[in-house]
Amino acid sequence: MAKAKRIGILTSGGDCPGLNAVIRGAVKSANRLGYDVVGFLKGYEGLVDPVQYIPLNDKNTRGILSRGGTILGSTNKGRFAATVGVQDRVELDPELMKGVKTTFDQLSLSGLICIGGDGSLAVAQQFHEYGLPVVGVPKTIDNDLSATAFTFGFDSAVECGTEALDRLQTTAASHDRVMVMEVMGRHAGWIALHSGIGGGADVILIPEIKWDYETVCQKILERSNEGKRFTLIVVAEGAELPDGNLVTQEQEQLDRQTRLGGVGHIVAAEIESRLKCDIRTVVLGHLQRGGAPTTFDRVLATQFGAHAVRSVIQGNFGHMVCYNPPHINTVPIMEAVNKLSVVEPDSSAVQAAKAMGITFGDCKLGISPFKKHLKESAEADYDPSETVDEAIEALAKIEA
Ligand code: F6P
Repeated sequence: MAKAKRIGILTSGGDCPGLNAVIRGAVKSANRLGYDVVGFLKGYEGLVDPVQYIPLNDKNTRGILSRGGTILGSTNKGRFAATVGVQDRVELDPELMKGVKTTFDQLSLSGLICIGGDGSLAVAQQFHEYGLPVVGVPKTIDNDLSATAFTFGFDSAVECGTEALDRLQTTAASHDRVMVMEVMGRHAGWIALHSGIGGGADVILIPEIKWDYETVCQKILERSNEGKRFTLIVVAEGAELPDGNLVTQEQEQLDRQTRLGGVGHIVAAEIESRLKCDIRTVVLGHLQRGGAPTTFDRVLATQFGAHAVRSVIQGNFGHMVCYNPPHINTVPIMEAVNKLSVVEPDSSAVQAAKAMGITFGDCKLGISPFKKHLKESAEADYDPSETVDEAIEALAKIEA
């Protein structure tokens, strides 16, 4: 009897817009190549004890391209909580692995597509090391996975943050208020940075840049002196307070990620007590994870789904599809989970934001990073006794 040509797929970890688009992309392209697809329910949990899956086909994946969440359901950690770092490796239970292998064998899976963030991909890596044929698809609104320029879900989350800032701007301006908006971003400030720039924030506080209240308050006062009596502040949930503390909603948890949240309220309370200004806080929370994916995320997710199927069929296991603009490539999963992608404090987006006067709470106001760079180039070429302004003027003349 001919061996079944079957691919498994699952969605693991926190959901994000675009998961269904990956599923649809994978099912459509697999079917056209003669493979059928089964979807495991509730992430890795559906693989074993009890095994829970549904056949996926054209019919039950119709119309899901624009739908948020995941039709397969998901589990954050559960019985499958693994890490693969050299120092802090947490092994999956060998009994669980045996059960998973049995499921692979019984269903004659040619490969399993695991859609997840760093924790879920670490599980996929351990499956790979156990000899199971897996391919990873990177997912997270936080955009903190290395080896891919973007994860799908990020653009949708940023869109949510930007739209919220647009709305906050009009009400803040009407009431001369300071508005603090807390966004997700556990280890990385990508959502805060991009929605902050896109939504015209005045202050952006992210985990990668140490900040202080003096600089933030100075910015609010500076704006007020210029007649701009409202200020928009975006803060990532993972941004540490100036004393180095992370704001969590619960005691540290050993068996799962500790829930973050609340930094926005703390920042607002401190600013209010220092400046006696009218201030309000909004925590976007899971609004950023729900809803329809943006066009960008639909396109990226669809490509990831189709290319993950290609990888399974080519036997390119232990790899993750990734976006290396304009191409979709693959990289070893290990490469992607070993290092987080965080905002470089000197990146062009941060520099551009600073050049237009957005503060990250870290440096004296009014100093443009470009001015600093110009100063450096000017100093290299001209008499060091010149003032900065003279040097810049001289450089401008040369460039003209
Ligand atoms: O990793 C994505 C993320 O949205 C983080 O930004 C956030 O800290 C976490 O998930 C929230 O997870 P949960 O939905 O389990 O509370």
